[in-house]
Amino acid sequence: MTDPSFATRLIRWQKQHGRHHLPWQVRNPYNVWLSEIMLQQTQVATVLDYYPRFTARFPGVADLAAAGQDEVLGLWAGLGYYSRARNLHKAARQVMETFGGTFPQEREGLEKLCGVGRSTAAAIAAFAFHKREAILDGNVKRVLCRVFALDGDITDKKFEKQLWALAESLLPENGSDMPAYTQGLMDLGATVCKRSKPLCGACPMSGICQARAQNRTAELPRKKAAPTVRTLPLFWLVLSRPDGAVWLEKRPPEGIWGGLYCVPCFDSLGSLNEAAERFGVFSDGLEEQPSLTHRLTHRLLLITPFAATANHTPAERLSDGLWVEKQNLASYGLPKPLHDFLYGRVLGKKPVQS
Ligand code: ADE
Repeated sequence: MTDPSFATRLIRWQKQHGRHHLPWQVRNPYNVWLSEIMLQQTQVATVLDYYPRFTARFPGVADLAAAGQDEVLGLWAGLGYYSRARNLHKAARQVMETFGGTFPQEREGLEKLCGVGRSTAAAIAAFAFHKREAILDGNVKRVLCRVFALDGDITDKKFEKQLWALAESLLPENGSDMPAYTQGLMDLGATVCKRSKPLCGACPMSGICQARAQNRTAELPRKKAAPTVRTLPLFWLVLSRPDGAVWLEKRPPEGIWGGLYCVPCFDSLGSLNEAAERFGVFSDGLEEQPSLTHRLTHRLLLITPFAATANHTPAERLSDGLWVEKQNLASYGLPKPLHDFLYGRVLGKKPVQS
């Protein structure tokens, strides 16, 4: 008997040991698309918490397209990478306006949607429409580099092209196997062929894995230089009215926390002081709070909040803002560190988001 192929090993293994019964393992492209966007940079356990709330409010693409951006961002708050939520909302409108309310079935059509790249489009086409399309995310690149002992640099475009070609050559013959195959690749990369300490004893590829045969699993895929993480100091002006309401401003659409609601945020103490004065608050009324840190992909935010009580709203404003009463804060999409700060320190309650 011939040695089972990569695809056969993977499909058998997924059916026995892979992840099943996830709420998005359905053939509805709306649910598959939504889950794939949420899962792009977020762990399954976290998505299991957000996904049901999102689908309860927006059961279909038309509901999402009809919503306002603030509500979409409000339900996304805490998941991070907010451009995903802004693109999701735009893509829902594209489906309604450009595709007549029906998702395209082909990978090329799906790639036209905002926020959907080649691998995500392939995953949607495979799960929802059983199309023979290859996915290639970071986990899949690691699996391929190890099984085939490839020592290219995975950030190199030419090498990436070779990996796409390899991924396509490995697909199963039958479209009906595509969901198990695609989920198998994701599951294998996440649970067995892990970046460090891979569980080779539990791997369906151990018999054909060249990195394992050559004792090179620790060195493959080849490491790229770690990105430099710069620290960005930020200063928050946390203005509270005597009744406890907090002053929030909608962030500009692009950049950090785009479209979310935040307290006035500055990159220098000088500009924070100027803004405070507009609310009738002078430096002796500002109470410095312990700093907090928040890690973004390429930056470490070092945030120092300054709390003050404000008695009036300035007639001439620098930006649009509003007083939000404590009991209404939950309806606003807040950056996670602000949410934790307000709930932990101002409201004196445990945060509701994880
Ligand atoms: N990561 C990206 N898509 C996924 C999926 N469908 N299941 C588990 N993890 C994933």
